[in-house]
Amino acid sequence: MKKSKHFIAVIVLIGIATGLFYIIFSVMFRLPVAASAEAGPIDVLFNAHYWIISFLFALILVIMFYSAAVFRRRPGDDTDGPHIHGHTGLEVGWTILPTLAVVGMGIWAAVILNDVTSPKANEMVIGVEAGQWFWRFHYPEQEEVTSAELVLPVNQPVVLEMEANDVLHSFWVPEFRVKQDLVPGQTTWLRFTPTLVGEYKVRCAEICGTGHAQMLADVRVVSDADFVAWVEESTQQVEFAELSDVERGQVWYAEYACNSCHTVDGTATVGPTWLDLYGSEELLTDGTTVVVNDEYITHSILEPNAQIVAGFNPNIMPQNFGELFAQREGEVLASQGVEVDIIEEIIAYIEALPVEELEDLNE
Ligand code: CUA
Repeated sequence: MKKSKHFIAVIVLIGIATGLFYIIFSVMFRLPVAASAEAGPIDVLFNAHYWIISFLFALILVIMFYSAAVFRRRPGDDTDGPHIHGHTGLEVGWTILPTLAVVGMGIWAAVILNDVTSPKANEMVIGVEAGQWFWRFHYPEQEEVTSAELVLPVNQPVVLEMEANDVLHSFWVPEFRVKQDLVPGQTTWLRFTPTLVGEYKVRCAEICGTGHAQMLADVRVVSDADFVAWVEESTQQVEFAELSDVERGQVWYAEYACNSCHTVDGTATVGPTWLDLYGSEELLTDGTTVVVNDEYITHSILEPNAQIVAGFNPNIMPQNFGELFAQREGEVLASQGVEVDIIEEIIAYIEALPVEELEDLNE
């Protein structure tokens, strides 16, 4: 076969292999639905990378296998192969072309990064607080609503002002494509515009301890009308006078994010489940046992590191609940004239489990 025919054969094979690899990569690394304005240019960049990777992979594999198959040694041929001392043109080419390609992709990516991170007109500010292991969202422009789920009006540009309580965490909603670390002691920002009504999850993308994998929060992108309704609902005060101790306990369970570590359905996560906990006998890490009663639970809330149940880790539960509760009890007394005892009501809730979920606390 003539030299030019080998070239044509190799070029055709590279073309076919590039297409095949592109299809395989697109299936293997399929991206989730694109739900933000930023996802558009980022996906174009992803797609360009898939094409380039497919081409390079095909270039190497096709030339390698073609040479091995077509130019293999025939039986009885004991002669040496041609001696090659290098090819200056080729070497200059494979230095310059990849350099241009990499620098070009870098510039393109920088332009897109600059575009998606620059401030937009009429951004809505939302505060994000992350800690081991919870997410909390704060809406300074919506009467200081605080929420465990992130609710966003569709097509409204948002800027997240993010702070970490303890260690590094990372805010990541794959459908929005953008991602940003939260760093203790400094504020970081993340901008995006959700474009698709739906339910998503924010997941922590920075390993942050034993509860890292469970550090999820719901994200809901809703219509403007639904957002207004949600804000209205969230700003209504819980009427503590109308609630029983068990119901109040249930309110605290959600408000203080106890639910991020303690389930009420019997599954153990980073902390013991609360179901069937009251009155049970627990083995502690020091080998002694305790009966779970009012005294033990009170002690465990105020000094979480003092008595750790075997199989669980210390330094996970916040140490300042005593302080937070006293402050909140004062607030409720001042605003509603109701005397609440948060620890007592949480204990009442634990004792009463299983309890049906409270629907619409605000009605
Ligand atoms: Cu927070 Cu991983």
